[in-house]
Amino acid sequence: MDYPRPIRTDIDWSALSFGFMPTRSHIAFHWKDGAWDKGELRTDPHISMSIAATCLHYGQACFEGMKAFRCKDGKVRVFRPWENIKRMNRTGHQLLHPEIPEEMYLEAIHRVVLDNIDYVPPCESGGSMYIRPLFIGTGPQIGVSPATEYDFLIMVMPVGAYYKEGLKGVPALVIEDFDRAAPKGMGQFKVAGNYGASLMPAKLAKKAGFPIPLFLDPREHKYIDEFGTSNFLAITKDGKYVTSDSPSILPSVTNMSLMQVARDLGITVEKRPIVAEEELPTFAEVDACGTAVVITPISSVTIHGKVIEYGHECGPVSQKLYDRLTGIQRGELEDTHGWLYTI
Ligand SMILES: Cc1ncc(COP(=O)(O)O)c(C=O)c1O
Repeated sequence: MDYPRPIRTDIDWSALSFGFMPTRSHIAFHWKDGAWDKGELRTDPHISMSIAATCLHYGQACFEGMKAFRCKDGKVRVFRPWENIKRMNRTGHQLLHPEIPEEMYLEAIHRVVLDNIDYVPPCESGGSMYIRPLFIGTGPQIGVSPATEYDFLIMVMPVGAYYKEGLKGVPALVIEDFDRAAPKGMGQFKVAGNYGASLMPAKLAKKAGFPIPLFLDPREHKYIDEFGTSNFLAITKDGKYVTSDSPSILPSVTNMSLMQVARDLGITVEKRPIVAEEELPTFAEVDACGTAVVITPISSVTIHGKVIEYGHECGPVSQKLYDRLTGIQRGELEDTHGWLYTI
């Protein structure tokens, strides 16, 4: 497929990390008087809003994250955008935002990726384009109430392959002094405030030598909820895929996809509450999963001072799941579930 702009030659694709990089444009839509405008591509990466915008004061802010890949055949494809659209509308509904029609959302992704198509890394680099939609209340309010105006923005940027030398395990720490979400709170929604709540525990965990915090359920602190920015999954010694079922975790598109891949491979999938202290020592493999890295193997989990080891290498079942999912994303394996949207 010929896109209007060839791949850029002024970027060292092998040196990319998961970090912010300005690109040509973002797309911006505005909602006012009950209707969305037609949206426009903007080159200025700064946005302007009232000092009394509700996203600044009252937390009317949510976001999403998905990726586009330059596949082997040269086409650029976005992985399961429909799931992110649904999740953002669920979050928006909870924050009293207006609905974003699916067609408008998909068109927005299409327009902004196409305008920045030269920033989608080459297939062989292992990199991808990160797509970050942001949905904020921008109308002014001083009493605590929802805004009367909203902005829906999407920025895009190239990001690197996390693991150039293969998947390597990292140690996780069970957080004891903080919860990332409340029982019956906002844990299942991708609201900005959840990430504010996770900054301090993540910082303290990192300082103690653990790059990944693991949160327990906020009601009893007995069940595994999720990692700071990814879901929890484990492979049992008899080869089952186990993942947490909890009302206070974000429903991960990656986890959902890995569960389907596991079923396709004949692996039994169990989505259920996981009793942390009792079950962690029984697992053969433990991983964090999410859009940024797909699978991060967990080398150990430290819970109440006890260290449970899983090894530094990615486990064989996790590796198989990773290879299958990334193969579909990059167009190397058949997209039997219709997960890819072609730009
Ligand atoms: C709290 C949290 N859990 C899980 C995930 C993984 O979700 P996904 O696979 O949709 O990226 C993310 C990342 O978006 C996250 O922030």
